[in-house]
Amino acid sequence: MGGRGLRVNHGRGLPGWTISAEAPARYDVVVVEDVFDPANTALADTSAAAYPVTSRRFVVVDANVDRLHGRRIRAYLDHHGITDDPMVLPVAEERKTMATVAAVADAVGAFGIDRHQPIIAIGGGVLLDVVGVVASLYRRGTPYIRVPTTLVGLVDAGVGAKTGVNHGDHKNLFGAYHPPVAALLDRTLLATLDERHLVNGLAEVLKIALVRDAELFELIARDGAELVRDRFRTGGAEVLDRAVDGMLCELADNLWEHRLDRLVDFGHSISPVLEMKALPELLHGEAVAVDMALFTVVAARRGLLEPADRDRILDVLRATGLPVSHELLGPALLREGLAATTRHRGGRQRLPLPTGIGSAVFCDDVTEGELAVAAKELGELR
Ligand SMILES: NC(=O)c1ccc[n+]([C@@H]2O[C@H](COP(=O)([O-])OP(=O)(O)OC[C@H]3O[C@@H](n4cnc5c(N)ncnc54)[C@H](O)[C@@H]3O)[C@@H](O)[C@H]2O)c1
Repeated sequence: MGGRGLRVNHGRGLPGWTISAEAPARYDVVVVEDVFDPANTALADTSAAAYPVTSRRFVVVDANVDRLHGRRIRAYLDHHGITDDPMVLPVAEERKTMATVAAVADAVGAFGIDRHQPIIAIGGGVLLDVVGVVASLYRRGTPYIRVPTTLVGLVDAGVGAKTGVNHGDHKNLFGAYHPPVAALLDRTLLATLDERHLVNGLAEVLKIALVRDAELFELIARDGAELVRDRFRTGGAEVLDRAVDGMLCELADNLWEHRLDRLVDFGHSISPVLEMKALPELLHGEAVAVDMALFTVVAARRGLLEPADRDRILDVLRATGLPVSHELLGPALLREGLAATTRHRGGRQRLPLPTGIGSAVFCDDVTEGELAVAAKELGELR
């Protein structure tokens, strides 16, 4: 018989044990130029460092990325002995489900990876979320490396700890906090992304700008159209750097979301319900933009935000090419969205409301009626 071990007395004559452990996290987000140039060893080295035993890896590539970049990606993977047969996954928000997770997990099983051997995910936010869920579940946790290929992926889905898939009409209902080993950010992959998806990604950049970085907001206001036209080639580095830095500063000390007051939830209050109800019409960032516009009006109506700042925010959203209103934004959706977000945030609204460009506060007392009035005003503000 050993010593007392972890045994404690839980009171009222209830003996038992208390287990306490911490979950530290460390991962790298690395800016890489031309990640699939065979001479660039960043991906091969990251993969080898994560698991030095064998170089063969299970790789999942977004089907559109494979169509546009497949030849280079395959040449790279082959050259570095990573794989000669990546899994090609067709993606769409409607396919971000547990069924797709199961299909990828089956393919991982058929390929046969060792425990602790990282999976490599190459694609946009949908693919990264699906593979992230697979990695979080496979053998109760398998490492993975992210190579985001969309703007949403580069500034948001690729850099945080969260993974998730939709279930029924619930956005990201299933998922885990499962940070990657590393995320390799290569903006040259944006060269083939269409304009709508670039603008969609700018919504997440504007989110960060509005809650913490007025200079970033001014950069988008000034250069947004040119950045999209130029596919972030020339002036994109600074905007991406600021957006990722701002995002990671918000996430880093609350990676497991023990605190539910999160400024990065700006734009993500009623948008999950809106996005799912409007599928496939609205992209993620478009729904986020409508949500940001709505709560901008709420903030102005409360006197938290100057009317001039409200108008400037709405003008920049519009000028970027993002929607600021939607026909589904009626009382029923607003009620459902507010209730869902309140449940999601532990029974309190914790709604980030802008107090200026680059600052925000949290509110807990926004009513459905107030939202309906703001939505009506938003529809009328042209
Ligand atoms: N986990 C997180 O923290 C997090 C954060 C933000 C967003 N997300 C999720 O990300 C998803 C949206 O991501 P998204 O906007 O990247 O969408 P997406 O993954 O659907 O990609 C958009 C489209 O672009 C294509 N594509 C990808 N890379 C391309 C490239 N380089 N060139 C041309 N086409 C390319 C894709 O095939 C797809 O058709 C949503 O499901 C959202 O919930 C997750």
